[in-house]
Parts: sequence; structure tokens; C-alpha cells
Amino acid sequence: MNLKDQILKEKLPAHIAVIMDGNGRWAKKKGMMRVIGHEKGTEAVRQTVEASAELGIKHLTLYAFSTENWNRPKLEVQTLMKLLVKSLKKEIKTLQDNNIKLTAIGALNDLPSKAYNELQEVIEKTKDNANMTLTLALSYGSREELVSAVKVLSDKVKNNIISAENIDESIINKHLYTQNLPDVDLLIRTSGEQRISNFLLWQIAYAELYFTDILWPDFTKEDLYTALINYQNRERRFGKTSEQLS
Ligand code: IPE
Ligand code: IPE
Ligand code: MG
Repeated sequence: MNLKDQILKEKLPAHIAVIMDGNGRWAKKKGMMRVIGHEKGTEAVRQTVEASAELGIKHLTLYAFSTENWNRPKLEVQTLMKLLVKSLKKEIKTLQDNNIKLTAIGALNDLPSKAYNELQEVIEKTKDNANMTLTLALSYGSREELVSAVKVLSDKVKNNIISAENIDESIINKHLYTQNLPDVDLLIRTSGEQRISNFLLWQIAYAELYFTDILWPDFTKEDLYTALINYQNRERRFGKTSEQLS
């Protein structure tokens, strides 16, 4: 049986998040510049987006640029931003063809205006698509997200809009960039690194973590299927005992 057919439709994760890592090392191994790795990485994005939509995954979130990535060499940052604009222009068709809604999380105001405007345009054009939500994490950092949420919440408490006693998990959730997304069920990181790098710290509280050595530009639909099969073979206990689940 091929990999795709081994995936159980009734046990799909509602939300997959991916730390797309290894573009630079992929290029270096081939004696090419890092930016070529980023360019090749956009093909892996398309594969992953298409495969997820075809399977019926409802939410896919991709870590494309972190708050810490601003500290990379200026030229690399510029090239990544240009690549973002180019990909948005090119992939709008893939989004429309697959009925995918694009959203974004992060300190989006920090993006160069060209990237910001292109992003908003694609978000607007795809807002009624209902098959899958694709969320790009751009200038995203989980700690920055939490700091912003705390600021807004403290302001609301100060102005008697909510009382401190009433703050609970759901209220915190509603103040995060991810307010419209369910918790992450499956977090995938490529390139062999086994760390979270400031991605969705709150939202992955009970996610299953899947690490693979494959470098992001080499990641294919089959690799996504492999991750999903691995996920479906795990027992998610959420603090309970195995016996309680059956
Ligand atoms: C991931 O690949 C893309 C971004 C972080 C923007 P890297 O650029 O981090 O590639 P490596 O980790 O250096 O190989
Ligand atoms: C994480 O990758 C960020 C993205 C994939 C966008 P990095 O390559 O920036 O992470 P570290 O620095 O190795 O932890
Ligand atoms: Mg990296």
C-alpha cells in the first residue's frame, strides 16, 4: 500500500505547524549560495500546502521568518523579503485553485511595505476560501506574541474592560495572533535540529513533535505522509492514563 493510503481520514490532525529549516545547509552542500536554498524551499512549500489541502487538513501554519531572523546579514533578509513577494504573486493561483485561505501571524508591521502590501492583498483575495487555512508566520516570535498579549490585557484590566480574576486560558488565547486557530496537533521540524526556536510556545502545549533530518528544500509530499503516519501511531493521552482512553 502506498503511503498516502495508509493515512486514516478520521485521525487527521486539525492543525499542522512546520518549522521549515535547512535551506542554507541544502545550498551549501551543493556549493551554492544560501538564497538558492530559500528559492528551492518555496517548491517544498507548494508541495506541503497542496498535499495538506488534498488530504483535508484544515489548518497549516508555516514558520517562514522569525523575529530573530532579522539579525541575519542584511542581504539575506532583503532576498527573503523579495522572495516572499515573488512567491505571493506566483502562488495566489495555487491558493485559489485549492480553495485555500491565506492568513499571517507575527509583527507584520515590521515587514517592508512591499511585502506587507502584497501579503494583505492575497489575504483579502482568498478570505472566502474554505477548504484550508494556510497561516504564514512572518516576523513571528512566540515571546513577542505573549508580550503583546500581556500589554493589551493589562490595558483592558486598567480600563475595567475585564477583571484580573476573570483572566483564563481562553481569554489569553483570544489575545494571541493565533486566536482563530485550534491548538497545534502536529509540529514538524526539518533539518535535524530538535528545538522550537521561539515558535508557538503556548499553542504547542500538547502537540506531537516530529523531527526529521531531511533539509526543507528536499521535503516532499511523501515526507508529509510519513510524518502523518507516525503521528497517527502515537497515543495522545493529554495527562490521562492509557486505560482511560480506551
Ligand atoms: C530556514 O532555513 C529558512 C529561514 C529560517 C528563513 P535556514 O536559512 O535556517 O537554513 P539553515 O538552517 O541555515 O540550513
Ligand atoms: C527557525 O529556523 C525559523 C524559521 C524556520 C523561519 P532558524 O534557522 O532561524 O532557527 P535556529 O536559529 O537554528 O534555532
Ligand atoms: Mg536554520
